[in-house]
Amino acid sequence: MHCLDRNRNHPAEWGRTAAGPRRDGDRNDRTRTSRRTDHGPSGPRILPGPPRARRRGARRFSGTTVNYYSGQIGVGSELDNLLMARFTEETGIHVNFVPKSDDTTEDYAVYDVLFAAKSPDIDVLALDIIWPASFADHLVNLRPALDAEAAQHFPGIIENNTIAGSLVAMPQFGDFGMLYYRTDLLAAYGFGGPPATWDELELMARTIQEGERAAGNANFVGLVFQGAAYEGGTCNALEWIASHGGSIIEEGVVTLNNEATLRAMERARGWVGTIAPETVVSFREEDARELFQRGDAAFMRNWPYAYAMGNAANSPIRERFDVAPLPHDGSHPGVGTVGGWQLAVSAYSPNPEAAIAFVRYLTSAEVQKWRAIEGGYVPTIRSVSEDPQVIAALPFLERLQGVVRIARPSRETGTQYNEASAVIFQGTNSILRGAEPSQTLATMSADLEALVQRGTTAP
Ligand code: GLC
Repeated sequence: MHCLDRNRNHPAEWGRTAAGPRRDGDRNDRTRTSRRTDHGPSGPRILPGPPRARRRGARRFSGTTVNYYSGQIGVGSELDNLLMARFTEETGIHVNFVPKSDDTTEDYAVYDVLFAAKSPDIDVLALDIIWPASFADHLVNLRPALDAEAAQHFPGIIENNTIAGSLVAMPQFGDFGMLYYRTDLLAAYGFGGPPATWDELELMARTIQEGERAAGNANFVGLVFQGAAYEGGTCNALEWIASHGGSIIEEGVVTLNNEATLRAMERARGWVGTIAPETVVSFREEDARELFQRGDAAFMRNWPYAYAMGNAANSPIRERFDVAPLPHDGSHPGVGTVGGWQLAVSAYSPNPEAAIAFVRYLTSAEVQKWRAIEGGYVPTIRSVSEDPQVIAALPFLERLQGVVRIARPSRETGTQYNEASAVIFQGTNSILRGAEPSQTLATMSADLEALVQRGTTAP
């Protein structure tokens, strides 16, 4: 695990201008493509439809079809559909959208099979930030075609996506974990602001949960997060551990089995069935968001996409929530796990030039700006993150600038990352389900050590 600093060259800053509100629609209201007005708190705004695709010779590939494996939680897919239509209109290249699941761990398994078979059915694919090292051998080096474009992105993410000198993916958007809280309920129960520490969060969550249940909402809970045994569980665990001063792997050495991690795990286990629902042990992002957005939770850990959705016109919690850094134990900083998605071209694609033209369009500054304002997706291009319209649309981000971003140990574990993460999320999930934390941590630690020994780390 790395603790990332706030250097502007570092992934720490990818979140600098993260998600903003989409204030006039939700995922069921994605059909308006041209112009619309917005009357959110920052005043009326007119947004154009999807940006134009610059052709740059892409017309030469008119008539070819590109298979695009993607599908993001939030409104990302609806936005992509509009972008695909615009791209086809201008280049003549057809794009066949192949939806992937909402579960990163499942997606990994699908790609693994397709690549092992050298499948020609996949041209462009969405790649999680943790995967470049795992799949590099199966991806086209985009450096020759997209060198100038890559230079626009924050160097940290380009470095993450560069394996043995090959740029194997272009960044589409960044992500980081943050705390969502209900402003109206905190005020109603006499709390002056969001919790800084986990102890404060527990107190607030308990008080609000008891009050809301007594007032008749039997389903109300204090806290929701991603507790299922999948990649999101690793992201949550990392935040609990690091905010207690612990770590998982430091400079190639497994450090998981320590006092801080034990305290973090004991705390998280104590939430299940008290301030968090029993079912949180099988929650992924959308389970948490749907419950929070219905108005049935005081706090939620999630990624920025949920901000735009929570502020959609028909959202029950519209303008009744805000975001803050995730809490800490009182003596360590609050942290957020770094996430995000890239676009890559398969080495087995029969149409690599058309695929690259599509990646060039989807990761362009114009498209990143549009997706940031429309869907709250965090830009990875510096000029976009500094764009006044983007900043105005994403008002809460200034407060989260100082949050320490932590990366999962994907470079340390290289091709073994997926298995290493499985050790982390399965162990964490069994602790949440009641397993004894210290014994479980000892087993996890031994399993991780074996993987680190075997791992081929990214150069
Ligand atoms: C988000 C993040 C991604 C992470 C996943 C876990 O999609 O962007 O990096 O792996 O959540 O569920």
